[in-house]
Amino acid sequence: MTINHTINSLEPTLPAPTPDSTAIFNWRHCWYPIAFVQDLPPDRLHPFSLYGESLVLFKDQQQQLACLVDQCCHRAAKLSDRFGRALLEATVQQIFGFPQVIPTHQGRAVERLFTDVLIQPGMIVPNNTHFDTTRANIEAAGGRAIDLPCVEASNLLASAVPFKGDMNVAALEQLIAEVGAENIPVILLTVTNNSGGGQPVSIANLQAVSQLAHFYGIPLYIDACRFAENAYFIQQCEDGYDAMSVREIVLEMFSYADGCLMSAKKDVFANMGGFLCTRDESLAEELRRLLILTEGFPTYGGFAGREWYSMLPGTCYQSAFHIDHTHILG
Ligand SMILES: Cc1ncc(COP(=O)(O)O)c(C=O)c1O
Repeated sequence: MTINHTINSLEPTLPAPTPDSTAIFNWRHCWYPIAFVQDLPPDRLHPFSLYGESLVLFKDQQQQLACLVDQCCHRAAKLSDRFGRALLEATVQQIFGFPQVIPTHQGRAVERLFTDVLIQPGMIVPNNTHFDTTRANIEAAGGRAIDLPCVEASNLLASAVPFKGDMNVAALEQLIAEVGAENIPVILLTVTNNSGGGQPVSIANLQAVSQLAHFYGIPLYIDACRFAENAYFIQQCEDGYDAMSVREIVLEMFSYADGCLMSAKKDVFANMGGFLCTRDESLAEELRRLLILTEGFPTYGGFAGREWYSMLPGTCYQSAFHIDHTHILG
């Protein structure tokens, strides 16, 4: 068996060594038992090490055994290491409850993909308040971004209303009646409402917007960047939520939506990163195809292994372990 940095057949590729007392022994020219064929996983790489070199064994599409050095030339990560990506996806799935997770380099990259696929010229996208990059991406795709903040948002200091990030549901209903549901490819709701003073959105508002959106067959996506803080405000200020953990509230918040767009470049999250989640398998497939143009394949050529890992502590931090301390983090 010969091993180099490309796929190698396990057929002996060199002539059998002839006895020659002057030849230098080359261990690469020998056969070694590695594993029983029946023990090899059918759908995964089998990592192993031989004389200190990390290798992987796998069956190719023709079911032929092949061997590679265990290193991805694009990402400098181990080929056999699906852990970072799988763990990030699983963590995000657990926090938000969406089956499809598509990581990107930042939030605006998610927006770009999303608007490319969903928005035709002339279409309308309502939001409580669009973040500037969200608006820019919608407008670049030929759409119109419309802000529908609640009435109390116009004077943040004036009243004691705790959820001034809410969307104006009556104005949303009126907009749908005016332009027609078929011209609204998606409704967005930003939590917290960053460009509206970072104000939180209530569960009651999420429910009302979700109900209206789904009545008209329009998907609802949450711009999720400060979801944990938003959930904390719900726990502190919304009736009936004080006994629930922030984590449980997060799951409930996202259960009303069809997906979410995330900028992970936030405080305790990560220096860089983002992701899109959705329940829509065919949309996810289309987005993953487009992802290749600007972000790289989900499996290689884009996100480096270490970047998966860099998002993980933040994702876990905000969710599984310390999400209930969000108020300390600000
Ligand atoms: C609400 C909101 N949406 C989208 C974005 C864009 O994300 P990114 O900066 O990761 O591109 C941000 C960034 O701060 C944001 O706050």
